[in-house]
Amino acid sequence: FAFTPDNQAWAEAQMTKFPEGRQASAIIPLLWRAQEQEGWLSRPAIEHVAELLSMPYMRALEVATFYFMFQLHPVGSVANIQICGTTSCMICGAEDLIGVCQEKISKNPHELSADGKFSWEEVECLGACANAPMAQIGKDYYEDLTAERLGEIIDALGRGEVPQPGSQSGRFSSEPA
Ligand code: FES
Repeated sequence: FAFTPDNQAWAEAQMTKFPEGRQASAIIPLLWRAQEQEGWLSRPAIEHVAELLSMPYMRALEVATFYFMFQLHPVGSVANIQICGTTSCMICGAEDLIGVCQEKISKNPHELSADGKFSWEEVECLGACANAPMAQIGKDYYEDLTAERLGEIIDALGRGEVPQPGSQSGRFSSEPA
């Protein structure tokens, strides 16, 4: 792994924002850019970032594994479905949503679907508990989900469509009216 020339220049600019000797503070934006470049964070990508910041690989790995927005496995080319499994969503049906992912994508989280288009994982609370159960897909929240509706959303994404995010029941919505 190596940053593209543009990303390398961007990374170096980020590092200058911190006082001398504190370049390691740029780790989160650099890991994020590496993930954007590759789609996920491979070990060589994390090693590359650690080397740029003159820090041990293990310290960079600690940061990458702490935040679930960093993907340590290849993700689907169309979408990685993040199902919230924390209390409100669990009580309101997160297990049913996980069942849909297991049926349509892969038995286990962090595995690609047969066509490589999708992956899924269970994540911690995404802060939309009032509209549980919910899932994050890309940068969008899909709330008040049912198993049937999540299945429809995955099918639509597979056809290249972008289903309307927000509340799927119309009850409340994080989307502007
Ligand atoms: Fe699922 Fe908070 S518990 S969004």
